[in-house]
Amino acid sequence: MAELLIEGSRRLEGEIKVQGAKNSVLPILASSIICKDECIIHNCPHISDVKATIKILDYLGCKTRFEGNTLIVNSKEISKNNIPDFLMREMRSSIIFLGSLISVMGSAKLCFPGGCELGPRPIDLHLDGLRQMGLLVNEGHGILECEAATSLRGCNITLSFPSVGATENLLLAAVLAKGNTVITNAAKEPEIIDLADFLSKCGARIKCYGDSTIIVEGVDRLHGAEHTIIPDRIAAITYMSAGAVNAGKLFLKNISKDHISSAVPIFEEAGCIVKFLSEDSLKIEAPSRLYANRLIRTMPYPGFPTDAQAPIMAMNTVSDGTSMFIENIFSNRYKHVDELLRLGADIKVEGKVAIVDGVRRLSGAKVKAMDLRGAAALVVAGLSAEGKTTVTGVNYLDRGYENIETVLCNVGANIKRI
Ligand code: EPZ
Repeated sequence: MAELLIEGSRRLEGEIKVQGAKNSVLPILASSIICKDECIIHNCPHISDVKATIKILDYLGCKTRFEGNTLIVNSKEISKNNIPDFLMREMRSSIIFLGSLISVMGSAKLCFPGGCELGPRPIDLHLDGLRQMGLLVNEGHGILECEAATSLRGCNITLSFPSVGATENLLLAAVLAKGNTVITNAAKEPEIIDLADFLSKCGARIKCYGDSTIIVEGVDRLHGAEHTIIPDRIAAITYMSAGAVNAGKLFLKNISKDHISSAVPIFEEAGCIVKFLSEDSLKIEAPSRLYANRLIRTMPYPGFPTDAQAPIMAMNTVSDGTSMFIENIFSNRYKHVDELLRLGADIKVEGKVAIVDGVRRLSGAKVKAMDLRGAAALVVAGLSAEGKTTVTGVNYLDRGYENIETVLCNVGANIKRI
């Protein structure tokens, strides 16, 4: 199992080009099978979740070709409607194939994604909405067998929670359904908008309204399209926190100003100067010592993103003062806390609240990543700590960050993959 060996307390300075968004490219690749045509996806990051998705596309009968950061997927020959366990288990978000398989094959057979590192990952909102559209769902022994007796019919669906995955699956089921589908209280993360943009280029008729309503007018078929994935806002925030911990100065290219606007006040409250140099680039300069963020509460977009909670907590472990985190989205997203304590952090967790008392310095140690964003937090903390930090469980990191150690070494970090 690969490990990262980090030599800490090094100031970061330089330019980082941010990768394409993991949480946009995964649903877009899954939706590309609906076109039964060739799709060209640019700015596709080389991460293991994309590799896992490509394995599923290949299994289903698609032809895939990666050229640099451009992925060409041809789903003309798609022939299967099932995803075997071993492929489903590689990545929980494979559930996003449910909606697209229903649209293209009329049926789908896949295993329940099951829990993951963040706690139970139910799909009740996905299935309730799909049943309202006429999908017959058989659940048993961990297997989902779904059949659309006739083609799905559009209807009005209200989500009790703006679930990103449920919104995506309903969108993918609605594009070829008969009639109109109105999704109310839909998620409005930028990745949803990017998926809707891609589907519209493929001929879908989708309107996203700012009040979390999405209206889809079903069409007969979709065709291939060319699309560039939006920048990864979570990767951008992760790199900003890495630069902030050692009074660094970073230039970030290929970011989206709108998508990270909810995080900028957090860095400014911590004493950083954040300046947008253009719509897609920014400069962040950090003070010699950060101030603590008083309160970070994770919310659906455009609130503070849950995926940024762990890296920002790592940043606050060495800030001056006390910060409070409230994790409102997932029930088990503090697994990085125990590992941060090994580095000398002072954190208390009570339910969905975490209190971080900033310490002067962390000290290097051997720590273990247990999920993707927790792994990123350990890298940020390791960069800040005195001495050497070894991070194991790097496979989690590789799920969502493209060459993170190379990116950070290019701006002054000393990180070796062993
Ligand atoms: C997506 O997960 C992202 N993953 C997550 O990013 C992200 O944290 C999350 O959205 C929230 O923004 C991808 O896009 C691949 P949800 P998803 O459905 O779709 C509950 C990362 O680190 N819920 O919005 O699974 C659920 O249990 C990953 O990049 C139900 O109760 O998120 C959770 O508590 C982690 N029933 C909350 O809603 C359902 O049917 C948010 O889940 C569905 C969800």
